[in-house]
Amino acid sequence: MKIDFRVLLGGCKRILLLAVLAVGFATLSAAPTYAGDAGSVWGKDYFPNYELTAHTGETLRFFDDVIEGKVVAVNFIFTSCKDVCPMETARMASVYEILGDRVGSDVFFYSITIDPETDTVEVLRDYADRFGVNGDNWKFLTGNKEEIDTIRARFGLFGDPEEEQDLSNHNINLMLGNQSTGQWVRRSPFENPYILANQLGTWLHGFRKVSAHTSRDYASAPKLRQISDGEMMFRDRCSSCHVISGGHLPQRAARVLGPDLFGVTERRDDAWLRRWMAEPDKMIESGDPIAVAMSSAWEVVMPNFRLDPNEIDNLIRYMETESDRVRQQYASASSGSGDAHHDHAAHHGKH
Ligand code: HEC
Repeated sequence: MKIDFRVLLGGCKRILLLAVLAVGFATLSAAPTYAGDAGSVWGKDYFPNYELTAHTGETLRFFDDVIEGKVVAVNFIFTSCKDVCPMETARMASVYEILGDRVGSDVFFYSITIDPETDTVEVLRDYADRFGVNGDNWKFLTGNKEEIDTIRARFGLFGDPEEEQDLSNHNINLMLGNQSTGQWVRRSPFENPYILANQLGTWLHGFRKVSAHTSRDYASAPKLRQISDGEMMFRDRCSSCHVISGGHLPQRAARVLGPDLFGVTERRDDAWLRRWMAEPDKMIESGDPIAVAMSSAWEVVMPNFRLDPNEIDNLIRYMETESDRVRQQYASASSGSGDAHHDHAAHHGKH
């Protein structure tokens, strides 16, 4: 049976829709803007210094230990969330994997629970284990509920208090930031993990990136690419349901709403592919055998975006080059030069 993905996602529907619609990135609007002086904006006066406990058992203070002077990815989760949170954590896990060695040396990941009563240190440790996360570079944090809500509010991620009673309404955006430069952006965690990794690994570092690393680190860091129209459209409209990974992402990250589009331009006839992208609904209706078989294998329906031929061209070109890029990246990883990525992949695969 075919179900509307809003039904599938139950209480989280509003949020997923938000994520699907999130375009580009939004800098925080309700907060002071970056004035160029590192300490003065988004500093200790803005972020509270509450004590949190990590899944590893350590006590960390939010400002001093978690964010001060760091490039960070911060999201808010709760472990009993059945649908969106695991997908989001899986997506974070792929960004983490892509960044490889750089996580921990200069980029830090934090997932803070919004349900601290349930999510004790033990529960979080278990959850981290399930995603193959070790404690050094990515910490799952719990603490006092009100204090955590205040932290969320400072990120602009706390919604209407009444709606927040239902945890599944929580705002699942991901914050990427560099506390010292005051740059913070809110991203959809469903975006292409390569783009999120690029942003964390290069854009956020700005000035200190090149000098702070040996050439090996720098070479294995994700490359900053020119983003084409096709890629732009893909990340806005398609990446909430599709990855292009060829099974190279950890299993859980690949468990998304639609098929992996790695190599799809080779796997499918060109005319078929173009028609599918233009009118997937009509193709299923008209009984196209491939479309019908595919549709019965997936829970959600591919939306008809009314793409024009030019947009379809751009998307096809992007799916082709992205597949090539992924193929090359993993070919070089297995021949030794990108061993960091490889090790992480192997590690995740075991869990
Ligand atoms: C809401 C989720 C969703 C979104 C958003 C989405 N798709 Fe899909 N897509 C699917 C599903 C599910 C299928 C499998 C067929 C079905 O059940 O409709 C699919 C199938 C496909 C296929 C065929 C794959 C194959 O193996 O032949 C292509 C190509 C594709 N989508 C491209 C895109 C592109 C390009 C975009 C963005 C413009 C996009 N999709 C956006 C869910 C989605």
